[in-house]
Amino acid sequence: MPSDASVPDRITALVESLYRRSPLRRDQVAIPGTATTLEIVRPVDIDALLDQVVDDPEQNLPYWAELWPSGIALATAIAHAPAQVRGLPVLELGSGLGITAAIALAAGADLIATDYAPESLLLTRANCLHHTGREPRTLRINWRDGGESVLAEAPGGFPVVLAADVLYERRDIEPLLALVDRIVAPGGMLWLAEPGRPPAATFLAEASRRGWTASTDRHDGPWPDPGDAGVVVAVHRLRRERSADRS
Ligand SMILES: C[S@@+](CC[C@H](N)C(=O)[O-])C[C@H]1O[C@@H](n2cnc3c(N)ncnc32)[C@H](O)[C@@H]1O
Repeated sequence: MPSDASVPDRITALVESLYRRSPLRRDQVAIPGTATTLEIVRPVDIDALLDQVVDDPEQNLPYWAELWPSGIALATAIAHAPAQVRGLPVLELGSGLGITAAIALAAGADLIATDYAPESLLLTRANCLHHTGREPRTLRINWRDGGESVLAEAPGGFPVVLAADVLYERRDIEPLLALVDRIVAPGGMLWLAEPGRPPAATFLAEASRRGWTASTDRHDGPWPDPGDAGVVVAVHRLRRERSADRS
């Protein structure tokens, strides 16, 4: 599909390429505290996706396919402070369905969305196109692999890195600490949204020990899935030390 094709044609091409693998649905997702509602395309059948990865030795589960309160809370935080991303190179880790990405793009971020699932990157592009008429650049990365391809995009690091609900497995704490130490520019910000899972608490304690400072606000929805009622998401704005040595 040429990049000068109309936005609806580009969305259709992206969605059709995924639909061949997985039936899709459209959900209306309200961003709490704003007047914005996103139309989000996502897979219908998460169980079928789980069946497809049952033999994956790394057990990389299809969490990209779901609506998570953290991604929505991070979108709200960005919508309330668009000047903090506008015109800046911004990288998102674990973009999922692209809800945070769509709001960051609408706020004027020069965004690169990353995930290890190609389906996530396709849907992030489609959902961003639908909301803004533009796509972010996307990069397929596994954050356990060191982040060389991310650094190649911004050798001095990114002034803003976004991450929503990426700390749910203990094995990811150390790789993510190492990665953000490399890819957030000195003095830059990591916006981390998390719903209180223990690996996130360990990550935050270690980041503080390494000199990152944080301010936090909390979001309580409402969330699209009634099963998430009562979930409180903390959005931490973590600043990397200005004087930190880059390794
Ligand atoms: C719980 S989902 C959150 C998605 C989105 N940020 C949100 O809040 O809606 C975690 C996301 O991280 C991605 N992910 C998990 N492990 C990863 C890894 N090692 N490298 C890159 N992406 C990963 C998943 O594919 C998924 O999109």
